Amino acid sequence: MATVTIKHVTKAFGDNVVLKEFNETFGDGEFITLLGPSGCGKTTMLRIIAGFEKPTSGELYIDDQLVSGGKTFIPPEKRSIGMVFQSYAVWPHMNVYDNVAYPLTIKKTPKAEIRKHVERVLEIVHLSQYAERFPNQLSGGQQQRVALARALVAAPKLLLLDEPLSNLDAKLRESMRFEIKEIQRQLGITVVYVTHDQTEAMAMSDRIFLINRGVVQQCGTPEQIYNEPANQFVADFLGKVDFFKGVSANGRISLTGMNGQSIAYDGPRTGKVEVAVRPEKLYFSPDGVLEGVLESQYYLGDVDDCRVRVGDVLVRVIANGYEYKSLHVGQKVRLGIRDIMVFEDDGSLEQMLKIQT
Ligand SMILES: Nc1ncnc2c1ncn2[C@@H]1O[C@H](COP(=O)(O)OP(=O)(O)O)[C@@H](O)[C@H]1O
Ligand SMILES: [Mg+2]
Repeated sequence: MATVTIKHVTKAFGDNVVLKEFNETFGDGEFITLLGPSGCGKTTMLRIIAGFEKPTSGELYIDDQLVSGGKTFIPPEKRSIGMVFQSYAVWPHMNVYDNVAYPLTIKKTPKAEIRKHVERVLEIVHLSQYAERFPNQLSGGQQQRVALARALVAAPKLLLLDEPLSNLDAKLRESMRFEIKEIQRQLGITVVYVTHDQTEAMAMSDRIFLINRGVVQQCGTPEQIYNEPANQFVADFLGKVDFFKGVSANGRISLTGMNGQSIAYDGPRTGKVEVAVRPEKLYFSPDGVLEGVLESQYYLGDVDDCRVRVGDVLVRVIANGYEYKSLHVGQKVRLGIRDIMVFEDDGSLEQMLKIQT
């Protein structure tokens, strides 16, 4: 097991500052995910931890050892790290056994010991029966598990995974999520996982670091960042959300463009606000707070995906699938709201307030 401590790490390529003041500690045995849109700096952070990049400034520690910073630089092979990348990069001319054994073979580990370690990790990734196969005789998911076994064979303290599932089809991706999570639990190792897929991050992580343009926007458990987003970017990136403009005064928010309709609000903010609503937090109810007209309705089996016109504004509602038959397009409906998030209007996303309506 290992901790990773990142102190004031900044990374620039020429004038392009891609990581700004990264300052975090990843705990022993934690499953950490670096999440964010493409180009936000996730891979760069992972490569700094691995030792493939040096930070422009700042320090990086693995456990208590300074590995990057000042004049110190410990190369990747001395950091006791396992890595898996997006493209699984297993060697096509080697069978599974030799692929997995490779990191130990190049270290000239005695053959009997190699065998012991390879057999152990093949069991962990459920590939024991496939040791003699070549990669072209394996499915994508199995090949990715070979890459995982190879990353684990030298018993690393720390496992770094860079979008390891993005080349797999949706079903396989989902089952591999659980397998990786299970392996991590079993081995008790610290994992730093990179993805741009919010569902993947939500499903696997102890803590998520959501990054935008090289800056950590928020870190927290999946529940925390979903339910208490620090700013509009976070609210928007995780899950579905619609933003509405409004004016807050006297304990109510009057929603712009919605025929003067308003909702109760007991927070301190007055003046212009931005209201964020997750479509699944809206529901059809005869005594709902907003009145509108059902404009479209799609039955998706488990849920109804609906649009309701409230004044000039189209509001998305994800209702449970039972509503479908009882409603028809063109009819007047009322919407209840379970909760909303209220942000300041200036776009700088200072504060989030959550209320019950
Ligand atoms: N070796 C490099 N030289 C110059 N720019 C780079 C290099 N590696 C990454 N970048 C830039 O750094 C930014 C972040 O890249 P990256 O960390 O790969 O993002 P992500 O993994 O989140 O998609 C991008 O703008 C990318 O073009
Ligand atoms: Mg990347």
